[in-house]
Amino acid sequence: MCGIIGIASNKPVSINIINSLKKLEYRGYDSAGIATLKDNSIDEKKCSGRVDELEKLLLKSPSNGNIGIGHVRWATHGIPNTVNAHPHSTENVSVVHNGIIENSDDLKKELETKGYIFKSQTDTEVITMLLTESLKNTDPLDSVFKTLSKLKGSFALGIIFKNFSDIIIGARRGSPLAVGYSNEENYLGSDSYALKSMTNKISYLDDGELCVLTKNNVSFYNVKKNKINKKIHTVSDDENVSDKGDYKNFMSKEIFEQPTTAKKCVSEYIDSLKKDINIYNFPIDPKKINKIILIGCGTAYHSCLVAKYWFEELTQIDIEIDIASEFRYRNVKFDNNNLYIFVSQSGETADTAAALEICKKNRVKTCSVVNVVESTIARNSDWVLPIHAGPEIGVASTKAFLGQLIVLYISCLKLSSARNEIDKKTYHQSIENLKKLPEAIKKTLNLETNIQLMAKEFLEARGSMFLGRGSSFPIALEGALKLKELSYLHAEGYPAGEMKHGPLALIEEGLPVIVIAPKDKYYEKTLSNMQEVISRGGKIFLITNNKKVSISENIRFGLRVPYIDDTLTPILLAVPLQLLAYHVALLKNCDIDKPRNLAKSVTVE
Ligand code: F6R
Repeated sequence: MCGIIGIASNKPVSINIINSLKKLEYRGYDSAGIATLKDNSIDEKKCSGRVDELEKLLLKSPSNGNIGIGHVRWATHGIPNTVNAHPHSTENVSVVHNGIIENSDDLKKELETKGYIFKSQTDTEVITMLLTESLKNTDPLDSVFKTLSKLKGSFALGIIFKNFSDIIIGARRGSPLAVGYSNEENYLGSDSYALKSMTNKISYLDDGELCVLTKNNVSFYNVKKNKINKKIHTVSDDENVSDKGDYKNFMSKEIFEQPTTAKKCVSEYIDSLKKDINIYNFPIDPKKINKIILIGCGTAYHSCLVAKYWFEELTQIDIEIDIASEFRYRNVKFDNNNLYIFVSQSGETADTAAALEICKKNRVKTCSVVNVVESTIARNSDWVLPIHAGPEIGVASTKAFLGQLIVLYISCLKLSSARNEIDKKTYHQSIENLKKLPEAIKKTLNLETNIQLMAKEFLEARGSMFLGRGSSFPIALEGALKLKELSYLHAEGYPAGEMKHGPLALIEEGLPVIVIAPKDKYYEKTLSNMQEVISRGGKIFLITNNKKVSISENIRFGLRVPYIDDTLTPILLAVPLQLLAYHVALLKNCDIDKPRNLAKSVTVE
């Protein structure tokens, strides 16, 4: 997704803007640009493609301004090219924008009647023109307020002004924006991660707020134009964050980090002395919870789907799962005795944040399961359960999915215990079993060599299917999502029992079908569904934990994951599917950390 950087300093800023834009590359983008104020004029440079290209442009023709804004763009309005790249500037003002201006067509028509000529196909350029128009009669701050009042939609903005050469104005509605502080230098950033190499002192703008940065000062204003104070947070220093070490890419690093992720997450939530889960202060008395609604997008939604099976197995709580982009527009009936749980790695996903906002407006209790604890979703929810996975840089979520599953499972166990719905022995045994997870994940990762061989079989395929029943069904969905987003091969996740109701028609000679069949109550049924696929020519890749299963000639490949207990099985089954997607994508020479058309932090709806 788009990313913003702004720096006001006492020295040239372009090198630091480029370095910060590189930190934002993980979000996914297709073009980049920078504007600085130099000799009382706006010096704008932009290009399609990578930040490296922009850096080359700057080497040829340096920008020496002490104040500037930079942007990486993920196209929404208009194709990815140089003209549509941000910043969008006139002689007097230059703008970078994340988000979508929904009434840009109407505003454009209005501005065209006043003689403004648009160069790009973007929605952003209307902001530049509105500012240019209002700057004729007023100062920058007032012109920004006037412009914002005309905009519908979501935005985070960074703006510089030719005639006010010491200020950057930032504004937020819907899309996140952070301010960083340092000595004789202040910063604007679409997330704190991009600012981390320069400062760990950060403030976060809330919706409707605006900030004015100079090199020595930052002022904040609320939507009523009153000056306000903002809290300054000290963000944690995560070591090795931007270092791939010996790994080829961040995704493989993050897949292989999972034993550590599991260990950290489990140790944060398990009190080994008391042999208990240290989650307290539920926002609703656990015994009074009527229903839990779990909401997320993409991979986070899949972790919610897995959790549904756990909650139904271990508690008497009614449970519902929702996709945030659907939830936010449905006519949902809210209830004070329901707990609404939002799952998000980034904590910035626009749909999830909007769904949370709706819950807040309806005054119901909210909880978030997030990786980024400084994020909008974490800050806006009543209660936060961090997953402690550390920064996830690869666009495809792996270790964060694992962390989400562990935290959801742990919360489910705790709720079940607090409601006296699990017997003490099972509760304590489940806690002990959680401690075995890191070692079992390590063993699962040892399957990599077999998975590499398996991946070769997907190179000529026209598509693939992932089948499972019970909690293996959402794992099948996740396996299919990983394969399609990384390798661009069509992959469909399906409940194995539903195949006969239509999708069997897709099975043809040699189609790769991944059957996820742990030895649980669905095992025999899944194997019967697998036979239906075999009889129609499907090429089977069986993933199980059954020690007794023999890999017959009808099964092209078999993988056996370790077993701890039935409830932890979906967590272990997810790992080989991550490796499979990774190796297929590697063989196909795909850009693993930055798959096409995707973004790490989806801040538009
Ligand atoms: C897939 C993936 C996405 C995200 C989704 C939600 O690998 O990463 O499907 O899971 O965009 O993102 P978060 O969890 O940040 O809300």
